[in-house]
Amino acid sequence: MKINQDFDKLVPNYLFAEIAKRVNEYQASFPEKDIIRLGIGDVTLPLAPVVVEAMKKGADDLACKETFKGYPDYEGYAFVREAISDYYKSFGVSVSADEILISDGAKSDCGNIGDIFGKDNIVLVTDPVYPVYVDSNIMAGRKIIYADSNKENGFKAMPDESVHADIIYLCSPNNPTGAAYTADELKKWVEYANSNDAVILYDSAYEAFISEDLPRSIFAIEGARTCAIEFCSLSKTAGFTGTRCGYTVIPKELERDGHNIYKLWYRRQATKFNGVSWPVQCAAAAVFSEEGQKQIKVNLEYYKGNARIISAALDELGISYTGGKNSPYIWLECPDGMGSWEFFDLLLTKANVVGTPGAGFGKNGEGFFRLTSFGDRDKTIEAVERIKKLLKA
Ligand code: MLT
Repeated sequence: MKINQDFDKLVPNYLFAEIAKRVNEYQASFPEKDIIRLGIGDVTLPLAPVVVEAMKKGADDLACKETFKGYPDYEGYAFVREAISDYYKSFGVSVSADEILISDGAKSDCGNIGDIFGKDNIVLVTDPVYPVYVDSNIMAGRKIIYADSNKENGFKAMPDESVHADIIYLCSPNNPTGAAYTADELKKWVEYANSNDAVILYDSAYEAFISEDLPRSIFAIEGARTCAIEFCSLSKTAGFTGTRCGYTVIPKELERDGHNIYKLWYRRQATKFNGVSWPVQCAAAAVFSEEGQKQIKVNLEYYKGNARIISAALDELGISYTGGKNSPYIWLECPDGMGSWEFFDLLLTKANVVGTPGAGFGKNGEGFFRLTSFGDRDKTIEAVERIKKLLKA
């Protein structure tokens, strides 16, 4: 037998698994060190009380013959999809409940969506890029081309009319750079996708962090319904990184190559995925209730406060950065022309602070570094104090 030879083209480890490995090795060598982790974008606050209540009630339902639930509907329960559809309405975007499919997160859907597309499609990603888009397409044997996001364009790559792509991954607010596209900029991508018969795979996992007047969904843009799929997640919005729940939106009219895209994705999911558990879907619906929205906003404000603390420290140090405003990520230029991994090692060993080396997100990430605002408040304050002390010395 043969394994999938395309796996040999991958970097040896998934970026965040590699970082965890290096940090754990360091901790094992120096068990007394108090390491502060601002690397992976993992939340630290507990789930909102109303969400926990709904999850407990869902668990109780499973303990009783009358309310017990087995396999969920393949596309997710209607009441959850309706709650999400109403949520979209709250920021002026019309997406119907039967265009939404519930999943265990945006990462899985972004990685798995490739199942429905042919191998010969050209995939375009913006660089720096969330490694899932690249790695999952390398595994599938597709050709990947890169659009440069850099300091000059504010880390917002724009389409090049002279280049053809079939599948386009966009993430806004962006992971890792925190940069967020304006409606006019997204319009250009939508026009490009429609004129290339391409599909935009739009990752809106960080939309809840938008505080300025910027699009929260690709479907806020005219023309997107004929060229876009949107992936969103409750991981960062409502602290579901461990709980697992997300959703994918596919307009019913989206067709390519004589096929309806919603139907293809439904077919794929029904074959390979058996849905999100009843207690978790109950918890997800509670996120979109009036009380749920109030409670998750408190947590989002906490993280935004952390972002302000990190940004203020960088301002004080004269280090340039993007993000932190409409995004939980702060993307900074490594000081003194240091390489990303060099800076990673310096922070880990001299300040015992973990961040994510920009080079792990692609060639344009070299010389940059990502810090997350999802940490504990006191630890974030302690981390920036350590960083200031180190870099001012
Ligand atoms: C991130 O920190 O970019 C993501 O949370 C990591 C991941 O999805 O693996």
